Amino acid sequence: MTLHEGMELELAVTRLAVGGRGVARSEGLVVFVEGGLPDSLVRARVSKVRKGFAEAQVVETLTPSPQAVPPACRHADVCGGCPWQTLDAAAQLFWKREHVLETLTRLGGLADVPVRPTVPSPNVLGYRNKMEFAFAGNLHLGLHERFRPGRVLDITECRLMAPWAAEVVAFVRDFCRATGLPAYDARTGRGVWRHLVLRESAATGKRLAHLITGPARTAGGAAHGLGEALLTRFPDLTGFVHSVRRAPSAVALGERQVSGLGETRLEERIGDVRLFVSPDAFLQTNTAAAGLLYRLVAEAAGQAADGTAWDLYCGGGGISLTLAPHFALVHGVEADARAIDDARDAAAPKRHRQLRVPRPGRRPGHGRPGLDRPDRRGARPAARRRRARGADRHPGRRPGQGGLRVLRPGHPGPGPAPAGRRLRGHVRHARGPVPPDGPHRMRGRPAPPLKKGRPPHAGRASRKGSGCEEARKRWRCCP
Ligand SMILES: C[S@@+](CC[C@H](N)C(=O)[O-])C[C@H]1O[C@@H](n2cnc3c(N)ncnc32)[C@H](O)[C@@H]1O
Repeated sequence: MTLHEGMELELAVTRLAVGGRGVARSEGLVVFVEGGLPDSLVRARVSKVRKGFAEAQVVETLTPSPQAVPPACRHADVCGGCPWQTLDAAAQLFWKREHVLETLTRLGGLADVPVRPTVPSPNVLGYRNKMEFAFAGNLHLGLHERFRPGRVLDITECRLMAPWAAEVVAFVRDFCRATGLPAYDARTGRGVWRHLVLRESAATGKRLAHLITGPARTAGGAAHGLGEALLTRFPDLTGFVHSVRRAPSAVALGERQVSGLGETRLEERIGDVRLFVSPDAFLQTNTAAAGLLYRLVAEAAGQAADGTAWDLYCGGGGISLTLAPHFALVHGVEADARAIDDARDAAAPKRHRQLRVPRPGRRPGHGRPGLDRPDRRGARPAARRRRARGADRHPGRRPGQGGLRVLRPGHPGPGPAPAGRRLRGHVRHARGPVPPDGPHRMRGRPAPPLKKGRPPHAGRASRKGSGCEEARKRWRCCP
């Protein structure tokens, strides 16, 4: 029997593939089963047959997985937001670790890397500090459906974020419907409403609504009206930002911020580090778990009072700043100019006064060859004295002083490591350009072959916004 689209099969799901679909076998083919949990028997409809594999969707569960749990959310059957919510938390942790292992082994070509058990999140529900909701059709606002990702489900609750988020979504949906303006249509490039992103700071309790529209002329007035109505109706909402996105890709990132009301940037605290979060910039979405993550990274990195640490893909600088007290210098590498701004501001307080971060948009290679030299105007007297002594030849600081530089991809790098500095593990990278295409380059290994032969972040990040957001559509490299 050969598989064909539309046929129904009984499938025994044995495991979860990277990306979350169940894996079964039929007629010698691997079948990726959307909605299939490990150790379950399901009836599934084949949706695609390709050379070497097929895809199917669960129609009925015949024998449930022993790890299945009742869903927490009323939209679980339809919504594509959190397909693993029917898998118990311990099993989720197990499969996360399996996927890390598989990624390192298969994609990274790294055998025998020790991978510890997954560190559980302190909260299983309501842990997200950010949710992205999409507009579509006539006029829906919510999350993409699981089995028909082209459609948007009008959610009335979302258990991933605190309940206020669903209330704001309902209000915005009604408001936008009442304007009579349509959702943006990527095929025609017409229409207004694209995404609503809600963020909350665990440290301050402040909340931000970020509306992304198409470039339609009518968008500005309507968005401003919505912002005012929102801040009046929800006093806990402390800021509203309207951005425009022209590119057709359905990514919840603005290209240009056109207006704002109230506080347009959040402040967050992760571990001992205070961070700033611009509406579009990346922040780990689980604040409590990010604290655990940063602590683990700091433990693994150790300390070197006269050494340098590199934080590649540093975002708003959370890991860089966690490491800063333990190193003479931390280099952060980041593509997103807004995140660089946030990192610079977060590093500004006194205890990081050795900070030298090139201004976003500043051309690299300014000043000394191979070094994106910090702006020296306004430098403190102590820093001037050090320079006079030649102590800043390498912008690493004296032991214990801590510092952070944020470089852009394509930057020629900070030049050769000064003799005697503990940079051995990083020398290749430090001498070469900042790799725009992923950490595997640091090890001098060729990038693994990808679709169309391009590495995951190639050429994207430097064009606009977060390359990671773009890349995750194919690679799911971000949460
Ligand atoms: C998953 S986030 C990690 C942020 C940070 N390390 C943290 O844990 O909070 C990845 C970051 O990498 C940045 N990025 C993506 N591609 C990049 C590239 N080629 N070069 C530099 N940064 C890049 C994105 O803008 C994003 O801020």
